[in-house]
Amino acid sequence: MAQKARTVLTLDAETVNALKHGINFKKNREDGKCYIIYKDNRGLRACKNQCKHQGGLFIEDMEDIDGKTVRCTKHNWKLNVSSMEYVNPPDCFTQDELEVVWVNEGVQLVELSPPDPWNVDPKTPEELEVGEVTVTYLTHACMELKCGRKTMLFDPWLTGPAFARGWWLLHKPPEDSLERLCQADAIYISHMHSDHLSYPSLKTLSDRRPDVPIYVGDTSRPVFWYLRSSGVTLTNINVVPFGIWQNIDEHLRFMILMDGVHPEMDTCIIVEYKGHKILNTVDCTQPNGGQLPSAVDLMMSDFAGGASGFPMSFTGGKYTETWKAEFIKNERKKLLNYKAQLVKTLQPKIYCPFAGYFIEAHPSDRYIREINMKNSAEELNALTRKLNPSIKTWTPKPGSVLDLSLALKDPSSSMAITDPPPNTQLYMNKWEFDLYMDEINSVITDDIFKHKNWIQFYYRWADFKDYNLVVRVIETDEDFRPFPNGYDYFVDFLDLSFPGQRPERDHAYLEIKNRVGVMRYIVKNGLLWDSLYIGFQNRISRDPDMFHFRFWNHFQIKLPTKRPDWNLFLLQETSVPVQADSHR
Ligand code: FES
Repeated sequence: MAQKARTVLTLDAETVNALKHGINFKKNREDGKCYIIYKDNRGLRACKNQCKHQGGLFIEDMEDIDGKTVRCTKHNWKLNVSSMEYVNPPDCFTQDELEVVWVNEGVQLVELSPPDPWNVDPKTPEELEVGEVTVTYLTHACMELKCGRKTMLFDPWLTGPAFARGWWLLHKPPEDSLERLCQADAIYISHMHSDHLSYPSLKTLSDRRPDVPIYVGDTSRPVFWYLRSSGVTLTNINVVPFGIWQNIDEHLRFMILMDGVHPEMDTCIIVEYKGHKILNTVDCTQPNGGQLPSAVDLMMSDFAGGASGFPMSFTGGKYTETWKAEFIKNERKKLLNYKAQLVKTLQPKIYCPFAGYFIEAHPSDRYIREINMKNSAEELNALTRKLNPSIKTWTPKPGSVLDLSLALKDPSSSMAITDPPPNTQLYMNKWEFDLYMDEINSVITDDIFKHKNWIQFYYRWADFKDYNLVVRVIETDEDFRPFPNGYDYFVDFLDLSFPGQRPERDHAYLEIKNRVGVMRYIVKNGLLWDSLYIGFQNRISRDPDMFHFRFWNHFQIKLPTKRPDWNLFLLQETSVPVQADSHR
């Protein structure tokens, strides 16, 4: 049975604000089921109010002076809700946690069922021959796994930019990377973001081996939603259910798991060969809701941070350079500690940080490049080794190869990892800016933008409304100055109207300055706004200073999968094109 995610309790912002530090008991009024929520400075943890012994109900433990423990009313077992470990009897069980998903300052508790599907049909690890399982790092999130006779490849971003033209490869992939892509027996693509699903990279595959099996998770936003419009032909895309082993051959199988925070679009993977597990959490925020296999042979995860427009692209109010620098520093530190703790909890035999090797290389993004500091893999591995001396760490260089057999037999062996020859160029020093920029910017002069009504047509297609938010969108040049004769307009998302100025009523307000080429490319192709936001292609100010989850979630994940019908639009417009001049 496929793994499913189910919301078991929803709390609005007011109820969440009223939660006290420590233990909170909550009941779902509709089905009468009870839940425990523990709050501390790090956030919330939650579980069902159901004892693992025989299903008894927990109440506050009057003997507990720390306020962390609940007592089962049936046979007095005790559960520490801050750690989700049973303390009486000690060292026996951990409580299955519910995912805490934040939505508009409120919270949903989500249950994954089953929580640990990799335990279905377990295999005993067999001894591996030297060279039987090798893992080769190519670049960013792209790894090649050779397991016996089969080769799997993860997330091939091997050429071109990601997020419009905001991200570029930092590590230079080995020369034969595209060849390796075309020779793979199976390709896993974790999610639709363009640093994982790279159409320029897949174009080579489309030209040479369009029938290579590609595997993606069954996310509600299909990973390949844009395939038909992309010009890339791939004929063997397999959408697989979550939490079910998929057999590649008699020894090799894999299972795709969903992300707890973004189950609608993000996934991670466990690959198993002859009973040896490789866990790749990619850049899931909360892979499988935080429930993951421990003691896997190899774990790889993201580490770097800096993959969001916040706060780099924000202006005005508190967003001074000092505030941003402090925030970025703290977030990096938190991420570093979180990853090191996760590794400590899961105790893999080998750990490899990856999926963070991008750079805002274009000269016009120098500001972002200079302030968007990221964690270094060396730093994380040093911390990991300090916390867990027995875990072997791997800081991958493009083309470096880990031999799993050697690494498991003797973690200290220098033979286990083969680095590329010393004179190998590891970092990119030039990128094909013009090739990709020209394609994006060619849309600026497209006929549709000669008609001011494209604005109404586009936002009606986007279909986001009934939300008290007014957005002013300003088209800009590369330096975020108004684009000559560019559009500058308001959208009132309460009733999806297009006023000439901000309305009188109380409303939340966003001002977004978008680079004209990227914005028009997105509009014309019906693309998601992640290219603008994650790709640092805009500057944003807001009043009040709050995150509008519904707005960004809609424009970054939920836009229609069918692009706007611009032919119909042009037909509808009057026959004489109107030159764009002042567009206020
Ligand atoms: S059911 Fe909870 S201790 Fe027995």
